[in-house]
Amino acid sequence: MQVTDGSLPNPSALVDRFGRVHTNLRISVTDRCNIRCVYCMPEEVRFLPRAEILSFEEIERVVRIAAGLGVTKIRLTGGEPLIRAELPELIARLVAIAGIREIALTTNGLLLAEQARALREAGLHRLNISLDTLREDVFFQLSRRTGLNRVLAGIDAAAGAGFGRIRLNAVIIRGLNESEIVPLVRFARERGFEMRFIEFMPLDGDTLWTREHVVNGEEIRRRIEAEFGPVSPVQRNDPSQPASDYRFLDGNGTMGLINPVSLPFCSSCNRVRLTAEGKLRNCLFSTTEWDIRALLRAEQSDDAVAKLMRDCVLQKKPGHGIDSPEFLRPERAMYQIGG
Ligand code: 5AD
Ligand code: SF4
Repeated sequence: MQVTDGSLPNPSALVDRFGRVHTNLRISVTDRCNIRCVYCMPEEVRFLPRAEILSFEEIERVVRIAAGLGVTKIRLTGGEPLIRAELPELIARLVAIAGIREIALTTNGLLLAEQARALREAGLHRLNISLDTLREDVFFQLSRRTGLNRVLAGIDAAAGAGFGRIRLNAVIIRGLNESEIVPLVRFARERGFEMRFIEFMPLDGDTLWTREHVVNGEEIRRRIEAEFGPVSPVQRNDPSQPASDYRFLDGNGTMGLINPVSLPFCSSCNRVRLTAEGKLRNCLFSTTEWDIRALLRAEQSDDAVAKLMRDCVLQKKPGHGIDSPEFLRPERAMYQIGG
């Protein structure tokens, strides 16, 4: 059995049939968003009614039960998590749960200028901010909205609020923002952020994804090296970390490549996902979901919820199989799952 974090195996741990120990829970706190990225949602989108979304009490209970099953790390996602009212209050509640060692958040940055300080004060440990371009026209093509200047102000505010090692995530789509690879790396290096490139996955809202749209990590690395000189791989100390990190040999920072399409990392995946309406998923590409909310709202016991979590993990497949002829695209787009 794989043991993470150097700690002793937890006898009730969320271990699947392939020995993967699940210590990482990603929670979507809303499916709503203030922009409409093409890789994530359709232009005409229907969001969930509020009553369908888990309350803070419900999320807190799920995390407490998950922590008892060995979950140590939480990532809050969306939609756009900063749209959820009073998010710092949820963070403070989750930080207080025994066993939870790290709370991270993935945001599009639009509301960070206003919220960075409160998030930090609530105890948020880490921030990933999406930044796919530095050009307002490309931002508009990608997100179908304006607001790049607010994102950039949000990134500044996050750095000023004392978050260490802020990561900037970009999805590169062929013919859309390829020309932004080098400027993004330059921007990140100048400011001490880590730029990470995530391969475009078939989770877009309009199901327009094709292989031809994917600019793979290898090509991205070559383009970066052509501009900034060679990079060398950084030894990884956490095998479940999906990013391959590289150091610039000029000593100026690191960058990461997340290659779920060209080099799947499913064999070391330690993640489970909770959607905004309380469905548990064992994979981004799951076609099955486990309804935790139904148990919570039927006043079922913690043991019943824990059993559902174990069942979900036990049915996890070895990998997403994007390349297999039997690959079935999930019915949900990214905003409905919570990256
Ligand atoms: N492929 C890859 N990454 C995606 N994200 C959203 N949709 C996709 C997709 N189809 C990631 C982006 C985004 C974050 C919220 O989730 O990095 O910034
Ligand atoms: Fe919103 Fe994030 Fe989806 Fe973009 S990727 S539409 S910012 S939820």
